[in-house]
Amino acid sequence: MGFQQIEMPDHFGLDSTEPEADRLIGVANEQIERFMLSDQEVIENFVTCDFHLTQCALQWIRDNHLLTGERFCELGSGYGVVAMLAARMGMESIGIEIEQVLVDEANALAAQLSNDAAFHCGSFIPRETLENLDMDREIRNVTIEEDDVYREIGLAMNDFDLFFAFPWPGEQVFFERVVDKWAASGAMLLTYRGRDGMQLQRKD
Ligand SMILES: C[S@@+](CC[C@H](N)C(=O)[O-])C[C@H]1O[C@@H](n2cnc3c(N)ncnc32)[C@H](O)[C@@H]1O
Repeated sequence: MGFQQIEMPDHFGLDSTEPEADRLIGVANEQIERFMLSDQEVIENFVTCDFHLTQCALQWIRDNHLLTGERFCELGSGYGVVAMLAARMGMESIGIEIEQVLVDEANALAAQLSNDAAFHCGSFIPRETLENLDMDREIRNVTIEEDDVYREIGLAMNDFDLFFAFPWPGEQVFFERVVDKWAASGAMLLTYRGRDGMQLQRKD
């Protein structure tokens, strides 16, 4: 497996926040709270990352001209806030989410905010992934299901320049293996690691 780690600052500083991004995050947080308090069945695998920290990381990647292109994909996009932050920066941005109700919420929020991110229902794991993926540990919080959603979108994993994911503890390696198998050389994987902050890797 070939990834190069890219060191990011531990703290990005207050100047990395932007009023428009803050507004997007504020509106999204209100809607997520409303959604969580509604009568919806609990979606156990859905928790949100630190949107402010992730926005700072996206801006830092942008400011340092690290991307090979403009296509962004959030793997397991939940409410889609990170994909919307990437779209706000001018990226061609999509999210893939397995829970239809979250896809509907994300698309409705994007429409409300006039944000160009698009959300698609399906599994981010392409067909012919799992048989070759030597997984030595159990994956509990990703739905292990292969799908043709990229074909429906009209793009393949190797068309994207930056992936974002919020893996549950111990499941980072699964995302790395999927990206390593299918992404283009030079594509980047940004992950939110909870207490350990953000991690950025570039595929060899
Ligand atoms: C930890 S949440 C992160 C949500 C969002 N990315 C964020 O950071 O706020 C992980 C999301 O991945 C979704 N998910 C799990 N397995 C998936 C799969 N195979 N394909 C697409 N989405 C998946 C879950 O339903 C959940 O919404």
